[in-house]
Amino acid sequence: MATRSVNKAVKSSVWPLSFSTSEKIRPAKHSLTALEVCAGAGGQALGIERAGFRHVALVEMDRHACETLRANFPGSNVIEQDLRTFDPTPYHGVDLFCGGVPCQPFSQAGKMKGSEDDRDLFMEAIRIIEQARPRAVMLENVTGLLQSRFDDYRLDILQHLRRLGYDAEWHTLNSADYGVPQRRVRSVLERVDIHLVQMNALTRQRIDINARGVCS
Ligand SMILES: C[S@@+](CC[C@H](N)C(=O)[O-])C[C@H]1O[C@@H](n2cnc3c(N)ncnc32)[C@H](O)[C@@H]1O
Repeated sequence: MATRSVNKAVKSSVWPLSFSTSEKIRPAKHSLTALEVCAGAGGQALGIERAGFRHVALVEMDRHACETLRANFPGSNVIEQDLRTFDPTPYHGVDLFCGGVPCQPFSQAGKMKGSEDDRDLFMEAIRIIEQARPRAVMLENVTGLLQSRFDDYRLDILQHLRRLGYDAEWHTLNSADYGVPQRRVRSVLERVDIHLVQMNALTRQRIDINARGVCS
């Protein structure tokens, strides 16, 4: 049903896109909180909600994406802002910090300039984690990030997180393993507090990567 709505909206080029977010697919009880950045059109946000989280804020810079978020997550706190200027301190202690920081710097379809690319926001994510001190972290990106040319950068990100007390790991996940009718493989950085048992659904069936973070 969700796919039908999206396709219809795409065909008529009408923004914001609308997909079904009925109570059927939204769990009634949201006991955990999430701060999501670079929320885009809300694909990940929908999954986060379905995993039982309530968003305290959705941060996104693109106006059209924000309109889509507001339409599909009525009443939610959509913050239309550049992440570089975002102050996360009101959300200190949030259960989950998550997001899909821009993938262009790591995409095989681009120049793969990594941290040299102005669009890279991993260090902004680290700043926000430092200031908001979430209980868990999950950042998604393309698998290009797992290429050996980015080994040092991935380690750098892990070391920043370790300095902050987060023992994070890189993994690859395929959406098709989670009931999504699409093979979309992504690199995922996560640090899950063992007390956040509800998050198990997000991390099960993962394919482990070796110590250098290279896909095995
Ligand atoms: C890969 S998309 C995220 C997709 C999203 N996770 C989803 O499921 O729909 C990256 C998003 O980051 C946003 N973005 C890029 N630079 C940003 C910035 N400096 N501040 C806030 N958002 C930014 C883009 O507008 C884009 O929507």
